[in-house]
Amino acid sequence: MNLSAEQIQSNWEKMLGYINAYISDPRREKLIEFYKKHEEEIMLMPASHKKAYHNSFPGGYVDHVNRVIEGALATNKIWVEFGAEQNYTVEELVFSALNHDLGKLGEEDNYAHIPSQDEWRKKNLGEMYQYNKKLAYMSVPDRSIKLLIDHDIKLTENEWMCIKLHDGLYDQANEPYLKNYMPEQKPRTSMVFIIHQADLMAARIEFEQVWLSKFNEEVLDKPKAKKLDVKTKALGSMKSEGLKNMLNSL
Ligand SMILES: [Fe+2]
Repeated sequence: MNLSAEQIQSNWEKMLGYINAYISDPRREKLIEFYKKHEEEIMLMPASHKKAYHNSFPGGYVDHVNRVIEGALATNKIWVEFGAEQNYTVEELVFSALNHDLGKLGEEDNYAHIPSQDEWRKKNLGEMYQYNKKLAYMSVPDRSIKLLIDHDIKLTENEWMCIKLHDGLYDQANEPYLKNYMPEQKPRTSMVFIIHQADLMAARIEFEQVWLSKFNEEVLDKPKAKKLDVKTKALGSMKSEGLKNMLNSL
């Protein structure tokens, strides 16, 4: 999947629109300044380096982030309807969705994603981007939080938890926060689960849009085509009409 230049531009403006609509000053101002400073990179970066993951194409990151923001707002309504305690704000919810994957950017002088020049890896492994090896290893949630702190953009404790735990139990590092049975050790707000659900939903849908139909077509449908070829070939080489009819009716 590829986005047009117009779609990339309009997704970017939509994301800035969410900042202006949901985040209050002084954080709104600081976030706009940060995002505009890295406009070109953020606007064009993918959500992941590999096709088999999700949104691995120019503009994929912002497309994903907008889907998570919209998904979080919609998921929140369901949680509220079912009685979730409202001990968090909509600003916190949107701030967390907006910045949950920010660490994918990398650092100021070392952006994380480099378009791959390796044609074999692109064709056979779907690795469209390479990780910038100059960048020290840090998990995406940790770098998201670091980038915000580096730019003097303060986080509430709820936002910190949501960004840190957005991969849920898919990330073992989150187990001490999420796999415990003492009431006092459980997350204090449902927002942690709402952000995780919104991210999971967005990434799954992005995977389906680009990859699932292609996988079904290329991998699951192929054996059928092969079987048909064998049958056609066998029919063509037979002289007996009786045998041909028998095989053809199988
Ligand atoms: Fe994400």
